[in-house]
Amino acid sequence: VVDIRKLYGQTGKFTYDPGFMSTASCQSAITYIDGDKGELLYRGYPIEQLAVNADFLESCYLLLNGELPNKAEKEKFVNTVTRHTMVHEQMNFFFRGFRRDAHPMSVLVGTVGALASFYHDSLDINDPAQREISAIRLIAKLPTLVAMAYKYSVGQPFVYPRNDLSYSANFMHMMFSNPCEEYKVNDVLVRALDRILILHADHEQNASTSTVRLAGSSGANPFACIAAGIACLWGPAHGGANEAALNMLKEIGTPDKIPEFIAKVKDKNSGVKLMGFGHRVYKNFDPRAKLMRETCHEVLNELGLQNDPLFKLAMELEKIALEDDYFVSRKLYPNVDFYSGIVQSALGIPVSLFTGIFAMARTIGWIAQWNEMIADPEQKIGRPRQLYVGAARRDVPTIDKR
Ligand code: ACO
Repeated sequence: VVDIRKLYGQTGKFTYDPGFMSTASCQSAITYIDGDKGELLYRGYPIEQLAVNADFLESCYLLLNGELPNKAEKEKFVNTVTRHTMVHEQMNFFFRGFRRDAHPMSVLVGTVGALASFYHDSLDINDPAQREISAIRLIAKLPTLVAMAYKYSVGQPFVYPRNDLSYSANFMHMMFSNPCEEYKVNDVLVRALDRILILHADHEQNASTSTVRLAGSSGANPFACIAAGIACLWGPAHGGANEAALNMLKEIGTPDKIPEFIAKVKDKNSGVKLMGFGHRVYKNFDPRAKLMRETCHEVLNELGLQNDPLFKLAMELEKIALEDDYFVSRKLYPNVDFYSGIVQSALGIPVSLFTGIFAMARTIGWIAQWNEMIADPEQKIGRPRQLYVGAARRDVPTIDKR
């Protein structure tokens, strides 16, 4: 706590807390993490049980409404989401303005932000019904936009959503169907994607969620707020880590190179980190990492890739790191991103789209948190203070005196 009276005659006290390591920015009833135990609960339900006993849209309903849906509620919710998966036809033209080799995250920041211009009715954020329809539109349209970003990058025509498929199967269809061949739904692979989405759906006040809350605290349009979250997620210390983890495994190449790589990681001057390891909150196993490793097994078995060299390398790297004092003493464990890149690759998703899949999953968390914030009568515009360390007051000399 800094007494700011000592600084430039201002009054009062505030906390100086770079990175918000020990500052709670809000009250929330959505997600609970016990970092020491390695526990993650959505609305009180353990992530391990949700990943087995519920699907992604049930988890979305839960995060948004506080309870799991019964059969009738689920049917209504799924129907509503399904009927909002199309994007305005003008979006096709919007996409055509991007370079083909643009990073999908930059395309998503642009196209999701542009959704704001299509939904003027969502501007009355004090109306719960408008907040709800904004949430539905976002959950429904994100897969369509992510798949469009992919199709655009490979020069294939956009594939329209299909109402007879589940949320995850429809995404695979929009990604992998083409005018010559319809994607054949594989239940194991669809279930794996659904699980990735559940595991990434929310994670309390992480950097991108805090960004969405901060943007939303000024009363900004929800689609624009989600675009801000996507921008924040893009960074390699956050959502970009699965891409970085997979690239790291490829760079290491073979298990015999692991010790050399670990030595580099331990050398603080190298700037090399073990990507997919470590977490600001988890000082134990990230519970999502265990589920992701299991899913990795299932997917590789289904595809006959049990001996996939990258998966073997990842397991060996994990084993070595977990026995190494550097990682043990700093409580560095695998996080969700350590295995999710291998799973996504096996599903046929290109590396550059990994963070886009994360954004698709996290959209429900962002919008649920935004909704909770707007509905809170104590909500205030977010306005952190600063510890000013710059020059004291001085006069501006004219240019000939500088
Ligand atoms: N590899 C090597 N050393 C690490 C790693 C790592 N992945 N992560 C942390 N450390 C070291 C730090 O160098 C520091 O060492 P020191 O005490 O000798 O200075 C110590 O562990 C503490 O690390 P901090 O940087 O203080 O941890 P912080 O909570 O700030 O960072 C973060 C967490 C950003 C996730 C970090 O662990 C990291 O960069 N990991 C790799 C990237 C990654 O996997 N990100 C995904 C996060 S999960 C998600 O977004 C879904």
